[in-house]
Amino acid sequence: MPDWQTLIRDVRDFPRPGVTFKDITPLLADADGYAAAIDAMAAPWRGVALDAVLGIEARGFILGAALARALGTGFVPIRKPGKLPGRTHAQAYALEYGSDRLEIHADDLPPGARVLIVDDVLATGGTLRAALALARRQGALVVGAAVLLEIAALGGRADWDDAVALEVTVGY
Ligand code: PRP
Repeated sequence: MPDWQTLIRDVRDFPRPGVTFKDITPLLADADGYAAAIDAMAAPWRGVALDAVLGIEARGFILGAALARALGTGFVPIRKPGKLPGRTHAQAYALEYGSDRLEIHADDLPPGARVLIVDDVLATGGTLRAALALARRQGALVVGAAVLLEIAALGGRADWDDAVALEVTVGY
């Protein structure tokens, strides 16, 4: 395991009893670790034609914005409801209890823009699938998705569209 991966901390019983949370804040706080993580996430996409990185609120912003700089693209935020001031597209998705919604500005990308979706964690996959649907509704061509961590036991890949490249940097 590369040294930087040891900076991802397990926090037991967070956010609720029985759940072990993968905390990336020690990694982000470490200059070399953060740089190494972004380099590792960027590696599969170097040389791939991309117009923008789409980062999912909130931790997808931290990784996605750095990846956009590393790959030389623009950055477009996919946000929780009610945060974007312009005309938006929205996509609802199921949570363990209830549902949530993601939004994107309708005019941030030209039709056919080649995009990479970025988030920190792939767990059940609901968030990433919603982001994929949203990007497509927006008219983007989704080249792939990059996720720092996958919790494989939660089965997030099961309903992923195999036509879209999915790169995970650290698997659990
Ligand atoms: C977490 C994480 C992913 C999502 C993964 O976000 O950052 O976006 O859950 O879970 P899933 O694969 O089961 O959909 P959260 O909703 O906690 O938001 P945050 O990034 O704002 O903390």
